Amino acid sequence: MQASDDKKTSSLNHKSEAWSGRFDEPVAELVKRYTASVDFDKRLARVDIQGSIAHARMLGAQQIISLQDVAAIEQGLGEILQEIEAGSFEWLLDLEDVHLNIEKRLTDKIGDAGKRLHTGRSRNDQVATDVRLWLRATVDDVLSGIKALQLSIIDLAEQHADTIMPGFTHLQVAQPVTFGHHLMAYFEMLKRDAERFADARKRINRLPLGAAALAGTSYPIDRNMVAASLGFDGVCANSLDAVSDRDFAIEFSAAASVLMMHLSRFSEELVLWSSPRFAFIDIADRFCTGSSIMPQKKNPDVPELVRGKTGRVFGHLMGLLTLMKGQPLAYNKDNQEDKEPLFDTADTIVVTLQIYADMMRGIRVNADNMRQAALEGFATATDLADYLVKKGMPFRDAHEVVALAVKHGVNTQQDLADMALTELQQFSKMITEDVYSVLTLEGSVASRHHVGGTAPAQVRSAIQQARAALK
Ligand code: ARG
Repeated sequence: MQASDDKKTSSLNHKSEAWSGRFDEPVAELVKRYTASVDFDKRLARVDIQGSIAHARMLGAQQIISLQDVAAIEQGLGEILQEIEAGSFEWLLDLEDVHLNIEKRLTDKIGDAGKRLHTGRSRNDQVATDVRLWLRATVDDVLSGIKALQLSIIDLAEQHADTIMPGFTHLQVAQPVTFGHHLMAYFEMLKRDAERFADARKRINRLPLGAAALAGTSYPIDRNMVAASLGFDGVCANSLDAVSDRDFAIEFSAAASVLMMHLSRFSEELVLWSSPRFAFIDIADRFCTGSSIMPQKKNPDVPELVRGKTGRVFGHLMGLLTLMKGQPLAYNKDNQEDKEPLFDTADTIVVTLQIYADMMRGIRVNADNMRQAALEGFATATDLADYLVKKGMPFRDAHEVVALAVKHGVNTQQDLADMALTELQQFSKMITEDVYSVLTLEGSVASRHHVGGTAPAQVRSAIQQARAALK
């Protein structure tokens, strides 16, 4: 049974392959499976058809093929798209990839006109065009995903423009900050991420078609017409470069890696903050799971998985760089390996952005715990030093005075703001009653009242500008 099946598919292959004429024996079954890409590149079907229609119309306009052929091609490709979307299209491994599958079906439907579609074109410029069209649409999805996440961050930041938490350096309590300010740091990272994707989009959005296999074509094609009809900003200027480089995919993956690096850092904080040791936040149950053995557990699975999935996105970037580095000009089959990492990267970041935006809306803040943590860590020590400097003490001396006061606080288990005035005055006679206004958490954050500072008024203005920029 197996053997006769093999024979059947092989002979079909030998007859139907677009390039089979010069071969004396069919491709080995294992090789066929090894070299076929249809299982994953069928995802490009819609853009492949879009590109083919633009190419056919240009061939017609340039009188390279007849207008009747163009009409038949458009009609046939339209029907094929419907079959694909209805799930009734039969994808054949024998036909190697998305391009040959669609072309064969077209020829079955419309005969010779279908065979004329590939005039002046190669799968090399065809696939490069498809990937660029697909990636351009994906970048647009990513950009709206980033924007949605930014909006949900802004919403949460706005509710917490005054909520005080400890700011950390070295994961040690450093100075008080507002939670809104902390969240807006991620808004800024995402803003740069969006800029990176938008910038990569400019280089993605160039048309390879017309490069044909590598050298261009002898037909009187009009590349600008095709570029305009597919919404490209222009054509790839060199045919060898057009069919061979995948730097645009690498740039996309690099931008995706930086995005995931940011979301991974954010995730690490969510994991820490939701741990009962911190208890700064609660993540809504729908983003968490329990333990099969420990009934008390509520695990922050989503942020942990975001942190984990960052690894595969970084890995794909390395994979694509390595894929390119040894390739001589022009097209090599190596490039077929660009798709799976690219698709997986895109899928990962699109769904991560979506789930993250929703997770922001599911965060409940335990403001009392944040405040308590800020009170316990001598977070206003710098404020005391600055107070002494404003009274005339050199900063280095003030630093030393406060260090001694903190040491006293550690020994007596009290924060600076809890000490009596006479106690504080042991460390400097310059300290007077007005010191308590700078030792409070509110006084500390309010005093950082400049662009980029943590004062609630500044956070509100940063939020206002962020909202306006997203409009
Ligand atoms: N499936 C191929 C790819 O993804 C299409 C181009 C094939 N070109 C060729 N000369 N074999 O790269």
